[in-house]
Amino acid sequence: MKKLLSIVLASILVMSILGACSKREDTAKATDSGSKKKVLVMGTSADYKPYEYIDSAKSDEIIGFDADIAKYIGKELGYDIQIKSSDFSGLLASMEAKKVDFVMAGMTPTEERKKNADFTDIYFAAKNLVISKAGSYTDLNSLKGKKVGVQTGSIQEGKAKDLQKKVDFTIEGRDNVPQLFEELKIGRVDVIIVEDTVAKGYLKKFPELKTNNISEASDEAGSAIAFPKGSKLTSDFNGVLKKMKENGEMDKLIKKWFDSAQ
Ligand code: ARG
Repeated sequence: MKKLLSIVLASILVMSILGACSKREDTAKATDSGSKKKVLVMGTSADYKPYEYIDSAKSDEIIGFDADIAKYIGKELGYDIQIKSSDFSGLLASMEAKKVDFVMAGMTPTEERKKNADFTDIYFAAKNLVISKAGSYTDLNSLKGKKVGVQTGSIQEGKAKDLQKKVDFTIEGRDNVPQLFEELKIGRVDVIIVEDTVAKGYLKKFPELKTNNISEASDEAGSAIAFPKGSKLTSDFNGVLKKMKENGEMDKLIKKWFDSAQ
């Protein structure tokens, strides 16, 4: 009798464990309208039109160049892509903490970042721009004593720190890029450093803003996708990126997001 009881108890235990497991699997699979595909969570910072942003007049969905590329790759490899947004400066840490599976955020593969993440090939190149209201900061020295705005944790912040060794100015870090442009417009910062591809839309919208040709600040800032170190997805994604460059899909998306949408 005792033996029977323990068998019954043991099997209840096993069944409930199995039940819990299959339930977890179900939720993972059920994210996208009941499809059976595996889900990959993409971490991004949706403040970066046209790479990733929310057009709040239309919906609360995160859209953009990166989102489209990720979805295309997901389709090719059999994954549903779920996009999560948080501050740019914490993205790689949240990947290390396994809160997201990969990071795609117009992110430049720097040596520093490569210490903790693997990157795909660069899928799009851009350049840094210095922007101000008057357009009067024509060389590095003219930044002396000024306030330079950058996104916290970005390579633009790194650039500003570099330049600070040559000229004495203050760095003002902000969490997101729309905020930077606001601060510039109301005069709380004198210049900001952002990527040309992102600046383009704002320059069109706010004609009082001008770019400054400060060559020391204008280096390349290409974008690549970040994965945890050793992930086999890096080469899988690279394979599809290569295909997209060959089959015209990449050009199509570049046209869609960088030509017309701005
Ligand atoms: N390319 C720059 C970097 O890697 C800026 C990227 C900012 N991206 C964003 N989604 N706000 O630091």
